[in-house]
Amino acid sequence: MNIIDAKGGAIVPGFVDSHTHLIWGGDRSNEMALRQKGLSYSDISKMGGGISKTVETTRSLSIQELVDLGVQRASNALRMGTTTMEAKSGYGLSAESELKLLEATERVNRISVCDIQATWLGAHDVPKRNNKEEYIEELVSRQLPMVVQQGIAVWADVFCEPGWFTIDDTIEIITASNNMGLGSRIHADEFVDSGGLGIAAELGSISADHVAKSDDDSRAKAHESGVMQTFLPGTQYVMGMNEFPPIKKCVENSWAFSIASDFNPNCNTISMPFVGSLATHRCGIDPITALAASTRNPSTTLKNTENKNYGVISVNNSASFNILRSKKVESWCQSPGMNPISKTLANGIIVKHE
Ligand code: NIG
Ligand code: FE
Repeated sequence: MNIIDAKGGAIVPGFVDSHTHLIWGGDRSNEMALRQKGLSYSDISKMGGGISKTVETTRSLSIQELVDLGVQRASNALRMGTTTMEAKSGYGLSAESELKLLEATERVNRISVCDIQATWLGAHDVPKRNNKEEYIEELVSRQLPMVVQQGIAVWADVFCEPGWFTIDDTIEIITASNNMGLGSRIHADEFVDSGGLGIAAELGSISADHVAKSDDDSRAKAHESGVMQTFLPGTQYVMGMNEFPPIKKCVENSWAFSIASDFNPNCNTISMPFVGSLATHRCGIDPITALAASTRNPSTTLKNTENKNYGVISVNNSASFNILRSKKVESWCQSPGMNPISKTLANGIIVKHE
């Protein structure tokens, strides 16, 4: 028997980060200065930055380079206490490169002690070579069957936002995905309320993410339909917005919600304690509620098995938990920019924190 001295530190479940874009290449840190000059996310995208810029750099990498990046990022996440994560493709935007990203994700999952579950996000943007109608046709009749055949992705995702994919596009892509056995989790209502959360409820998505601008009727409808509202406050933070998502509405109305990192080239943090800090220090959520939103709640949107019940500590469950430096559970998210964890166990394996 291996006895670990927690030295009085509080113990919390391993964090479940249910929204990451784990694998991509390149660097978009130049976009901050453009934003400071007043350009929006959409302006930067139209100028050739944003997702399409990352697609170019990602496509140029070999599968081994993609795996190496993923392994390194998974180990950063583990050091910040994340023992389970969801990871999206979406920086390939062609059948071959999307399959390559999903294959890289699965290899990272096998190498890392962090459990990683994959989502196909072919509908992240329209590649330069296509108009949107052509691309949706390619998504549904070529990419999707190949992704299903490959058997790695569990869900399909769509960036449902004016300027990217509309509600009708989303219905088409998600319905086709459901028909081929993939569940859905979608990007919705990040910049404007286009009804994305409401449509997630109608489509039976497991989660609708961002949902910063969704209206209350959609939130209530989502809750009743079992759709998790997943907030990604790191996005507002890196975009320099003063307005953070109205997570508190979910607490006030007892609507199920989660928080996640949205790790991506624009929101380059994979630290759940930092996301927890944003939820508590900027969105008025108490630290224990934020902890449930980072563990047990997101776990319900992932695939659990009998001995891997993510986000909870229980008998006969795989040992995935964090020993905090402090005796206080609340401390898990109260030291932004610092690591509150002294030791992480991921599936029974001790993660080095030095
Ligand atoms: O969730 N909004 C769409 N996708 C990502 C950002 C992708 C990017 O900027 O590269 C997100 O925020
Ligand atoms: Fe995202």
